Amino acid sequence: MEQRLESLFTPWKIGSCEIKNRIVLTSMGGTDLFGWMEKHHFDKAGAHFIMEVAKNNAGLVLPGCQPVYNPMFGQWLYKNEKMYQDLKKWLPEFHKTGAKLFIQLTAGFGRSFTISGMMETLYSNKALRVRSMRCTRGICWTSLH
Ligand SMILES: Cc1cc2nc3c(=O)[nH]c(=O)nc-3n(C[C@H](O)[C@H](O)[C@H](O)COP(=O)(O)O)c2cc1C
Repeated sequence: MEQRLESLFTPWKIGSCEIKNRIVLTSMGGTDLFGWMEKHHFDKAGAHFIMEVAKNNAGLVLPGCQPVYNPMFGQWLYKNEKMYQDLKKWLPEFHKTGAKLFIQLTAGFGRSFTISGMMETLYSNKALRVRSMRCTRGICWTSLH
């Protein structure tokens, strides 16, 4: 290996948490463990992708940001017990890779968020807009990350 790359394979720490190398999958909405812009659930496709990245020696894996309250359909993240049961079954396999997993929680999205066709429909249809504003009332619409 070229000497200039060697430091990539040295461990580092965040507080007391040691990460085996400096290869990190950054958070990208869509690579979520609990669903993205849809009803929260343990997302098997997301979990498969995250597992593959970990098996290919990433030291730290950050799934896409996870809304604590779903802005599209309005569920609290902490309330879906089945999803956490599924996660509990999956995690031991993930831990075998030696990678660490951090979940990035978000209260909403920043100004640079891309408006999808679905969101445009939601905003331009008055009935849907009123309904969705009721769902998101009390939620700060500012990105936390
Ligand atoms: C499709 C997509 C979704 C992203 N979602 C998130 C996110 O959920 N949270 C976050 O902090 N950054 C997010 N990012 C930013 C990336 O994590 C990364 O920081 C950014 O792409 C810059 O990395 P780079 O300089 O290696 O390209 C996203 C980027 C892309 C392309």
